[in-house]
Order: sequence, then structure tokens, then C-alpha cells
Amino acid sequence: MVWLWRVLWRNWVPAARLGGTDGACRSAGLAVSLSARYYSTKTAPHIPGMEYQDAICTLNTLQTNASALEQVRRERGRPELQLHAMRAFLNRAGITVEELDHLNIIHVTGTKGKGSTCAFTEQVLRSYGFRTGFYSSPHLVQVRERIRINGQPIGKELFTKYFWQVYGRLDETKEAHGGTMPAYFRFLTILAFHVFLQEKVDLAVIEVGIGGAYDCTNIIRSPWVCGISSLGIDHTQILGDTIEQIAWQKGGIFKPGVPAFTVRQPEDAMAVLRDRAKEIQCPLRVCPELDDYQVDCGLLRLGLAGQHQRANASLALQLSHSWLQRRCLPDKGFPADSVDGSSVLQAASFKPSPIMVKGLADTEWPGRNQTLKHGAVTYFLDGAHTMRSMQACVQWFRETAAQHERSASGPVCRVLLFNATGERDSAAMFKLLLPCQFDFAVFCPNITEAIASCNADQQNFNVSLENMLTRCLDNERSWRLHQGGEEHGDDGRLLILPRLPEKRADTLVFPCILSALQWITQNRDPTLDRAVPPVKPGLKDKAAPLRQAAHIHVLVTGSLHLVGGVLKHLDPASSK
Ligand SMILES: *[C@@H]1O[C@H](CO)[C@@H](O)[C@H](O)[C@H]1NC(C)=O
Ligand SMILES: *[C@@H]1O[C@H](CO)[C@@H](O)[C@H](O)[C@H]1NC(C)=O
Ligand SMILES: *[C@@H]1O[C@H](CO)[C@@H](O)[C@H](O)[C@H]1NC(C)=O
Ligand SMILES: *[C@@H]1O[C@H](CO)[C@@H](O)[C@H](O)[C@H]1NC(C)=O
Ligand SMILES: *[C@@H]1O[C@H](CO)[C@@H](O)[C@H](O)[C@H]1NC(C)=O
Ligand SMILES: *[C@@H]1O[C@H](CO)[C@@H](O)[C@H](O)[C@H]1NC(C)=O
Repeated sequence: MVWLWRVLWRNWVPAARLGGTDGACRSAGLAVSLSARYYSTKTAPHIPGMEYQDAICTLNTLQTNASALEQVRRERGRPELQLHAMRAFLNRAGITVEELDHLNIIHVTGTKGKGSTCAFTEQVLRSYGFRTGFYSSPHLVQVRERIRINGQPIGKELFTKYFWQVYGRLDETKEAHGGTMPAYFRFLTILAFHVFLQEKVDLAVIEVGIGGAYDCTNIIRSPWVCGISSLGIDHTQILGDTIEQIAWQKGGIFKPGVPAFTVRQPEDAMAVLRDRAKEIQCPLRVCPELDDYQVDCGLLRLGLAGQHQRANASLALQLSHSWLQRRCLPDKGFPADSVDGSSVLQAASFKPSPIMVKGLADTEWPGRNQTLKHGAVTYFLDGAHTMRSMQACVQWFRETAAQHERSASGPVCRVLLFNATGERDSAAMFKLLLPCQFDFAVFCPNITEAIASCNADQQNFNVSLENMLTRCLDNERSWRLHQGGEEHGDDGRLLILPRLPEKRADTLVFPCILSALQWITQNRDPTLDRAVPPVKPGLKDKAAPLRQAAHIHVLVTGSLHLVGGVLKHLDPASSK
């Protein structure tokens, strides 16, 4: 305990600069909550019908349950009913809104970057030695990823135990409440609150699901600090069509007297946030550029790749700093006004403590520039699906893969595994990806295993799968056209297209993620099921460079669904 305090205080530069002392923080009651840590080690009893898989199945019934969907439909016209309903479910689960005040919450919304902002913030505060809770969405492989304690998804045992506690209470009270059960996201939010209360976290970082004002996480009354990352157009049917309407929704998480921070926003959006802050009497500040913070070591290093993460990191610094100050130095008042004339005031930059610097550098976020080395195969996973994030992904891959290649003992084969869902502009992304000099560009739908038909020999694909594959083939063709060279036109005639200076990649399409991985890795990844890769006639020779290379580098990108699907096969532990 004493040791922890030393570490906390020695490295806490901002507090020292403000003249803070140990006493101030102790009197804030923090010492009590830290020493009362409780690590639940009890394992849940194995009750048939109530094991982990049963919990997951039951959870999934909430997703599609007709009565829950009906309820959402009823509330759509009157959004204020949503929070009302959420409060009722929370109470039925045995939790009061007042109890949530003990969670010491940091509440974050935004269109882009709210997940990474939360990840930075959580890592920084965890680096101080606090026991953190972190609620985020969506998940990549397992729903447990959404509820984290000290950065780790809660274990199956804990998930199962707490799931049945919450589900049981809701189920018992169903009759008295017209048979209603909360829908999926509401249920998970209640579960997260329950887990964080039971596990006695020192703080909880809570990411909004959709919007802000009427999002079910917004039943919390008194977070310590709020954050808004980049606003953009998303979920327009639910939130309203214009950036002003979106800003109005997001500004709905402001609370009277609770400091809030935002990154720079388009002017029209900022005006709405400013008015919302005024109306709610919330002191709002705009974050400075990351380069404005004084650091001894030159540039702040971030654990998440890409220039665009720098604004998110600045927001995270302000959130952690403000949380530390308010939580531990309660006498330090916070200015109530946010507006100087008509513009939102800028937050002061400060000198990040060594712990903060380390926290930013250590931040990881699954599926975002993640590296996995399995035998002779190294996977580079990044769920980039916008032009900006793809740019960052390409830069990261080129730098990191080049580093790995320098230490490789022989030739390295570079493979792209790509899928982009929906109407995203794959062609524009291909232009960004071409300079990576791939030997192979592999396309597949975002399905992990095409059940019985995951076998290229079997031509019994059903219609939807066939449609997916047709689109994959279109993508493959689009890639080939982009890289130029000799191509066959639609009528089968040979075309000579201008060639780019980049290496020409061989292209392939597979019916599912597993078959693509099996072909790419050629049994050289010991963790992958060693099923014989399905081989189409003519493919066999193509694979020779993969078998001969000293190392295979696979970049998996284009969508988080694809990355999640790949992780399911590569990281069996995560899917257990
Ligand atoms: C799903 O809805 C039906 C009514 O449509 C209800 O009887 C059932 O209990 C609900 N199940 C859950 C898990 O909410
Ligand atoms: C924050 O990061 C996300 C990607 O995680 C990015 O799309 C967004 O533009 C970033 N926001 C800012 C303000 O840089
Ligand atoms: C992600 O990228 C950042 C910045 O390039 C780097 O510091 C970090 O180590 C990368 N993480 C992984 C897991 O490769
Ligand atoms: C990605 O998968 C979807 C179906 O899951 C498919 O329709 C689409 O064509 C695929 N995209 C690419 C680029 O392969
Ligand atoms: C494939 O992508 C779509 C989004 O276009 C998503 O709804 C679906 O769940 C994904 N499928 C899998 C298996 O991840
Ligand atoms: C078609 O195949 C897909 C992928 O294997 C599967 O999810 C879907 O249920 C199938 N649909 C029908 C109608 O068989």
C-alpha cells in the first residue's frame, strides 16, 4: 500500500505542481477505496443450463426478442422514455442510480475515436495503480471484451456468475412489468455497472453506445468528467441528419458543473456543443494539440498507430488529468463558465507525468494495429475501414513489416487479406494498399466458416453466399485493374493496362476466412487447424512462394468484422 502511494505521488507531476499532498487525496476517501480492493476469485458453480455458453445463448435471445424490439419501436418517437425505461430495468436488477455515483465515472462519446480515447484514458489511469473498469463496444470475438477490469476482458467464470445474477433479478420481476426484458445493449450496460460495483473498481471508463442524450449509459448522474471525440455523420436514421443534430445528441452527456473536454470540431458542431454546455451549465474546454504539451523526451509516443490518434490522446490526457485533480484534490474548484464571448475556451496544456507518458505509449486496443507471431507467420491486424485509418494502417504496416524483415533469415512473403463490408469504397483503399508490395492479395467474405460449403470444390453455395463471392470477385478484379499490367477484359480478350511501379500481387478469392487463412499459411501456423487447405485446380503452384519463404507477413484489414473473424481462428483462447 505504502509502495503504491509512493509510486502514485512521486510520479504525479501535475498534482505536485498544484501543490497537492498525500493528505489531500487520502481525505478524498480514495485511500479507503484502494485499500478495500476486492479480487473475486470464487468460481461459479457449474450448474447445468447455467454455464457460460448458456449465458451467451440467453443473452442473444435479448437481441432478437420481439417484445424488446417492440419496446424500442414504441420509444422511438419519445426518446425521453428510453432513459426512463433504462432506470426501471436498472432498479429491477437491484441497482439504484445513486449507487452508480460510486463508480467514479469518465463518460465518453463521439463519432470517431471514442474507443481509442477511452483506451488511452483507461491505460493512463491504470498505470497510476488504480483498479479500472472499462465498458466499450462493439466486441471483436467475445462479448466479454466489452466489460474489462484492469484492461482485461472479464473471465468466463465471472461473466457467468454476474450474468445470472442480473438476468435472474430481471426475470423474476418480469411478470410485474408486462413481461418486458431489456434489449441486448441495455442489458449489457446494466451488467457492466453490476460487475464494476461488485468488483469494486476505483473508476470506470464508460463509452456511450449511440449518440449521448438518450443512450442508456446516460442514466449516470455524476461522472467526474466527460469527453467528446470527433463528431461526424453516423447512425443518421437514429440520431438526426445534420452534424448539428448529432452534436446536440452528443452534448446530452454534459452534466451541470462536471468538466467536459472535446477535440476540435467543425464550426457548426462546436457552436451546438457550446450552447448545450451553456444550457446545462457544464464547463466545456477544447483540447490543445498534442504537441503543445511539454515533454522531456521530445515527441509523445502513442501505442496506437496513426497521426489521427494524436487528438484522441490529447483528449485522454485532459480526461485523466481532470479526473485525478477532481478525485484527489476536491478543493481545487473548476471554473463554471465555458464560454469566452462566443468561443469555447481552450484547456491548458500541462506537463504530462512520466506515468501518463508511459500510459499513452503502452495503450493497446485489440484489432487496431495488433501484431501476432505464430511460427513462420506474422499477422498484422488492423480494422481500418475509412480512408484516414487505412492511411495510418498502411504506414504502420510498411514500417513494422520492414523492421521485421530486416531481422528475417531469408525471403519474406507479403500477403494482404482484405474484406470491406457494405458500400465502402474498396477501390480507393486499394490505391492506398498497393505500395505495400504484396506478393498475394486475398479476398474473402467476412464469414468465419461457410459451414458445410467452406470448401471450394463443393459448388453448392446458396444464393447469399454466391452473391458475396461475386462481390469478392469484383473486388479482386478491381485490384488487378488498379495495379495494371496484362488483364483479361470482360469478354476474355487480353488487355494491356499501364503498369504501376509496384510489384504485381497474385490475387485469389476464398469462400470464407478459415479457407483463406489455411491457404495463406500453408500449415506453417501451428495454432491453426491443420485441415488440408482446399485447393482449386491451378492454385497449387501459386502457393510455392509461401512454403519457401523464410517468413510470411499477413496484413488483415478493411473491416473490424474481418479482423474479429480472423482472431477467432488465431487466438483460440479468446473464443473459449
Ligand atoms: C421474448 O419475448 C416473448 C414474447 O414475445 C416472451 O414471452 C419471452 O419471455 C421473451 N424472452 C426474453 C428472454 O425476454
Ligand atoms: C481518433 O481516432 C479515430 C480512430 O480511432 C479517428 O478516426 C479519429 O479521427 C480520431 N480523432 C481525432 C480528433 O483525431
Ligand atoms: C501500434 O503502432 C504504434 C505506433 O506506430 C506502436 O508504437 C505500437 O507498438 C504498435 N502496436 C503493435 C501491437 O504493433
Ligand atoms: C466482404 O464480405 C462481404 C460479405 O460478407 C462481400 O459481399 C464483399 O464483397 C467482401 N468484400 C471484399 C472486398 O472482398
Ligand atoms: C459481416 O459484416 C456485416 C456488416 O456489413 C455484419 O453485419 C456481419 O455481422 C458480419 N458477419 C460476421 C460473421 O462478422
Ligand atoms: C447461406 O449461407 C450462409 C453462409 O454459409 C448461411 O449463413 C445462410 O444461413 C445460408 N442461407 C440459406 C438460406 O441457406
